[in-house]
This record gives sequence, C-alpha cells and structure tokens, in this order.
Amino acid sequence: MIPVADTTPASMQIQAPQISEPLHESSLVDFTRSLPPAVPRLDAELARAIDRLRSEHDLDRLIHGGAARGSSSGRLGGARYLAPRLGDAIDIECILTTNGTQSALLILFHHLVGKGGRLLTERLSYGALRELAGIAGIELAGLDVDGDGILPESFERACRKGGVRALYCNPTVQNPTTAIMPLSRRVALADISRRYGVPIIEDDALGRLHPDATAPIAKIAPDVVWYVMSATKGLAHGLRLAYVVAPSRAQCDSALAPVERLSFWTAAPLLTAVVASWTLSGAADLISEAIREENAAREAIARGALGQIGLISKPGSMHVWLPLPAPWTCDSFVRSAVAAGVLLRSAEHFAVDNQPVPNAVRLSLSTPSSRRAAEVGIARLAALLDRRPAAEYQEERSVPNPC
Ligand SMILES: Cc1ncc(COP(=O)(O)O)c(C=O)c1O
Repeated sequence: MIPVADTTPASMQIQAPQISEPLHESSLVDFTRSLPPAVPRLDAELARAIDRLRSEHDLDRLIHGGAARGSSSGRLGGARYLAPRLGDAIDIECILTTNGTQSALLILFHHLVGKGGRLLTERLSYGALRELAGIAGIELAGLDVDGDGILPESFERACRKGGVRALYCNPTVQNPTTAIMPLSRRVALADISRRYGVPIIEDDALGRLHPDATAPIAKIAPDVVWYVMSATKGLAHGLRLAYVVAPSRAQCDSALAPVERLSFWTAAPLLTAVVASWTLSGAADLISEAIREENAAREAIARGALGQIGLISKPGSMHVWLPLPAPWTCDSFVRSAVAAGVLLRSAEHFAVDNQPVPNAVRLSLSTPSSRRAAEVGIARLAALLDRRPAAEYQEERSVPNPC
C-alpha cells in the first residue's frame, strides 16, 4: 500500500462536490490524527487579517515583542473566542495564551499536581496525556466512566482515598469516546471538587464546534476549574494557540510565576493577533462554522455506514468511536484495516493506566484531506466488518501493533 502525498493546494481542499473526486485504490486513508479539516476560506481570511494588522497595528511589534501571559488585546481576543462557551464576562487577567493545550497542561500539571502527585482522569483519555504525565513526573489514575463520561461516585471514591491533586477531564465530545457529560454530572463533579479541594482541569478542545452542547463545568463552577480551549480544532491546527482561564487572578499569577521567564510554552503574538482579529471581523465564527459543516457531513457518512453495527458518535463529532463486534479484536481489526488501506487508533492508545480497555477503535474523520477520502476509508472499514478476521489475525502475533 503506497501512501499518496496530497499535493492539492490547501485552498482547493474540501470543496463541494467532493463526493465525486476520485481516490486511487491504493491511497492510504489516515484516521489517526485529530486535525480539523482544511476549509477553503482560511487562506483568504489569513491574508485579510494580516492586511488588517498591517494597517491598524504594528506588524513589527508583533514579530519582535511578546509578553509571557500574552498581550491584553490577544487575551481580549481569547475572551471573545471563548464567549460562545463561557459567556462574555471573562476577566482577561485570568487568561493565559499558550502555544497549545499540551504546553498549557504541562504548566498546570506542574502548578496543580507536582512531581509524584496523582492526577485523576477518564480511563481512556487524550492520547498525549500519558506522555505529558511522564514528562511532568506525575501519576495518572483512570476513573470509571459510562456512556455519559466520568461517574461522580468514582471521582468521590478516589478523593476520599486521598493523595489526589487534580482531575483532568474532557466532558464535551470526549476524546476518544465522544461522551457528552450531562449537566447534573458536571454539577456533581464541581461539588465533589469543592468538598475535597481537588481542582478540575477542563479540556474543552471541541467545545466551540458544539456550541449548543451542555455548558462547560467552568461556566457552572469557575471557582474550581482551570479551563483550557485550543484554537487548533475550531480554527486551524497550525495556529498553535490555546487559552487557559484560571479560577482567579491570583491563581493565574501563581501558575505563571515559575514559567514567566521561559518561552517554550508561549503563544506567538502574531498568531494570537490573527485570531483576535478574526474574532472581531466575524471570520472566527465563519471558519468554525465551515469546520462544523464538514465534520457534520463526514460524521453522517460514518453513521450511515457503521451505525447499524454500533458506532458511537455525536452529530458533527470530529472523531467517532467504534466498538468492535466479535470475533474482531482491536489487534486483528487494526492490522486488517492497515492491510485494507486504513489507519486508525485502537483503544489501547488512549489508556491512562493498566486497567483493561474496551474492544474498540477511534476514527478521526477529519484528518483525511477530502470528504471523498474519508468516505472511501469508511467504506473499506464497513466492508471489513462484513467479513471475519483472516485466520492469521485471529491468533496472538508477535508483530508490534502498527498504531
Ligand atoms: C482532548 C484534546 N485536547 C486538546 C487537543 C489539542 O491539543 P493542541 O492544542 O496542543 O493542538 C487535542 C488534539 O487532539 C485533544 O484531543
């Protein structure tokens, strides 16, 4: 199987009617990475924003300058970007601009958890979490979940045991299971957090793409939540920008203090200014809307093809979760999918500790460069699921899992 490089200019990708675009039979369809689909208007909006910044501001200042926590205009842009989820009364002195969620989490792990401390999270969680925890020298412990996310009693049990420093959770279209936590559960988690003094790190990476989803825990209980939202899902991956909203100014200052003189985590002022400009011009909403539409089209295709066999997804979700029917196992399915020209991630990739994982895989529908490619990949998987695993995949094999 030969991966075919996508040489289509970004401005020409994802244009209707994509469904009729040819896809070479040998093209590999990659559902592994969680990148937003490229939307055609992005190029033009970027050029317009740079023009605006050139005429209104000082591009020189943006290229040469930069304050650790981000400029006030950049943070104001952040407040506007987050407003659909958090409302419009965000104190910009509680906002930090970082170069992505991973940097934000490293700062928060250092500040809230500390070396050797324990961080609770969903049993299956954001795939980068294990590596980040390793770098930060913290321990991850997986909480019990059901189809609605973390079970509050599991959180409370862990808090009662002691030794817990914080909870990380992703309650809106969870990665990887797509769970959306209901309001009552968000309220219950906030209540437990307050009673045991265990702060919550809420990762709302996809929140802007689901503006009607249940309110973030940070909106319900801003006093105990460190809210993180990346612009990489709602706008473009290459922006490398994520906003952190601290529970208070004082707590924001304390988190900042140890890293104030370091630059590995800071957002690029120019890109922060581009996003701030997009939030003023309305482009940010238009770009997010275009991503939302593309995600919705792809999710509908996946639901149509795989819904009957138990696909778990939410309308418009960027990724979907596929429990595998017996006799398929994660290993046999991932190997057979590779042979059929599809890359995906098995549940194991998302495990935060050594507890058993479900027999399921995640498909990031947004990664293929066209809707047609996503559709072909889904059709290949549906055809695979119509068959039994090949004999050689039914036994344990020593070849490492390609995912
Ligand atoms: C749960 C979650 N948070 C955040 C991110 C984005 O991280 P970053 O802002 O570093 O691009 C992802 C990307 O896959 C994710 O799945």
